[in-house]
Parts: sequence; C-alpha cells; structure tokens
Amino acid sequence: METIIFKMGSGEKDCDTMEKAAEIIKNGGLVAFPTETVYGLGADAGNPEAAKKIYAAKGRPSDNPLIVHIAEMKDLNVVSEHVPKEALLLAEAFWPGPLTMIVKKSGAVPYETTGGLDTVAVRMPGHPMALELIRKSGCLIAAPSANASGRPSPTLASHVADDLRGRIPLILDGGEVGIGIESTIIDLTEEEPMILRPGYVTESMIRSVIGRVRTDPGILDKDPAARPKAPGMKYRHYAPRADLIIVEGARDAVVKKVNELTEEMRKEGRRVGVIGTDETAPLYVGDMVLSIGAREDEEAIAKHLYRILREFDEGDTDIIYSESFAAPGIGQAIMNRLFKAAGHQTLRAEKCGGNEIV
Ligand code: TXA
Ligand code: MG
Repeated sequence: METIIFKMGSGEKDCDTMEKAAEIIKNGGLVAFPTETVYGLGADAGNPEAAKKIYAAKGRPSDNPLIVHIAEMKDLNVVSEHVPKEALLLAEAFWPGPLTMIVKKSGAVPYETTGGLDTVAVRMPGHPMALELIRKSGCLIAAPSANASGRPSPTLASHVADDLRGRIPLILDGGEVGIGIESTIIDLTEEEPMILRPGYVTESMIRSVIGRVRTDPGILDKDPAARPKAPGMKYRHYAPRADLIIVEGARDAVVKKVNELTEEMRKEGRRVGVIGTDETAPLYVGDMVLSIGAREDEEAIAKHLYRILREFDEGDTDIIYSESFAAPGIGQAIMNRLFKAAGHQTLRAEKCGGNEIV
C-alpha cells in the first residue's frame, strides 16, 4: 500500500485532504493524525474490523486497549452510560487536552476497541486537526500512538512514516507536536480515582479539581515485576535499539562517571551515546552526545525525549547513558517513560562535591 504523507497548513488542499481522511475513517480504514501529545493512528472506534486493523498495522498485542477520541462533551455519554461526576468535573477542567479517563463502557464501544475490557479509555484531544477529523468523519476515533509497537511514540509525521510506511494509506502531517509525551490516564471505575499513566496533567492538578487521587503503585515501582493496571504499561515500550542506562547523582559526578564508562565501552568496540542537557552536553566525550534541552525547561525535555531516542537508533549507538530528569510537574511523566525505555537500568554516580542533584 502506498502511504501519502500530506503536509497540512498549506492552504486550499488542506480541506480536500481532511475530507479524504474522514472518508477513509468512515470506510473502516486507518489515518495517522497529530494530537497535542503525540501522533495517533486512528480508526472508527465503533467498527470492530477497523479496530483490528490498528492492531495489525502496529503489531500491537490484542489485549492492549485503545483510547477513544471524541470531539463533543455529549459523546462521553455515548461511550459510557455511567459517567461519574468526577469525570464531568475533570472534562470541564482539562478537555480538550492531554487527559484520558477510564469509565465503564457502553454497548456502542466494541470489545475489539477495548481489548476485551468492560471499561473504555476516552479523551478529547486539544489539537484542531484531530478535532476536525473526528467531526468530519462523524465517528468516534480509536487511536493509539502511531508508532510500531515497542518503538518510541511519534512526535513528528516522519516518525510515523518510518514505522508505518506501506501499512497505512494517509498521514496528516501537522508538524511537531506540542507536548511530546502521551496523555495522563486516570481510572474512574474504582473506589478511588487512580492515575495509571502520568502525563502533562499532574496528580496535583487533578487533586485540585476532584479532591482525591493516587498514582498506580505498579508504575512507580522500579521493580519490573510490578503489575501496572493499564495493560499497555506492562510492556517495555519506548525502547531504543541500544541499551539505555540512566545515571543518577550530582551533576559533576554524573558527567565523570559517564565519561569513564564511555572510555571502557569504547575499548570493547562499542559506540556510545549520551543524553545530556544544554548545560552538560559539551562536557561529555561520547560518540554521539545529544542535548534534550535546558535542564530548567521541563516542557522542552518532554517534547524532545522520543525524538532523541529515535535519533540514537539512526546513529547506530550500542549503548546510551542518560542523565535523570526527575522534577516536579511533568518530570514524573518524563522519568516514567525514560525508566521504561531503559528497562529500569539505573546507576548512581558517586557524589564528588556539593553541586546540584540531577
Ligand atoms: O496521548 C495519548 O494518549 C495518545 C494520543 C494519540 O491520544 N494515545 C496513546 O494511546 O498514548 P496508546 O494506545 O499508545 O496508549 C493507551 C494506553 C495503553 O497503555 C492502554 O493499555 C491504556 O491506555 N488503556 C486503554 N484503555 C484502557 C482501559 N480500559 N483500562 C486500562 N488501561 C487502558
Ligand atoms: Mg503507545
């Protein structure tokens, strides 16, 4: 199958392309489109055959449910007959935006879309092209991130093309996404609301709206055997091809440790990559050193993480050392993704002075 990659924002033809995209969705096909978090791979959420095509194109395990994307508040009542009050409050506060809610599913959502579960994940994306596609198609759109299963989520249309070219008919290219990591997922089907995947909308932002929330202990645990509740969180997602190791500690100690390890690895003939920041990148001696952004700029770090992991793959590195980016706010989501990409491999550098912790 030929894959058309259409650069949106170029004028008249946008409208025709959007019509075409909507037709494809209506007819049970797949379209990749930008959202404010990452690119999604969309299909009609109400059509079991269309949902199956998503799993096939991504090589995704069929027990990993999809998120249903809606464009109107009223559609929350279409996907669920039991919308809890907390869902309404959160929708009002954060939609359209990077928050996905898990609620009991209605008969309108087939089990093919929910990976066999009686619950459904639903979100109203904050990207105008995503909203337009949903409205024009007249469908609710099931969409996982538009990467091949196990690869970092796409933050550029070219990432989607790298993974899915030849497997889908159309990619709407809306440029680089705004946030760069996937939506926060909150489960509202149990006694106490629980965050299953951290994201741009943080625990404290949610608490300020509904008063109570906790985070799934299964995702905070560094033990890879811990069982997260969201099926997708158990897989070693976001994995670069090289081994990735997170080095924690004070800044100078981290730089020293990474440079020592780099020399050792080189002797073994291995090509070394390093993920640093604007402040530290010039200090590393790795074969391929990439800055993820300024250390103070959490939003830039979130936005660049997946692109950088993909660039290391292209650079043919054998092993990658990364600084740690724990910080309040979106830092928890960044570290959750980085730990998963690293398969939870971490090292601690010896402290050698009173400089700040990284
Ligand atoms: O930002 C995002 O959420 C992006 C954009 C495209 O919207 N989508 C995305 O979808 O990240 P995906 O499929 O890559 O991740 C969905 C996650 C998976 O971990 C899945 O297991 C979980 O949501 N999930 C979906 N439905 C669920 C349910 N009913 N119960 C528990 N977890 C669910
Ligand atoms: Mg995904």
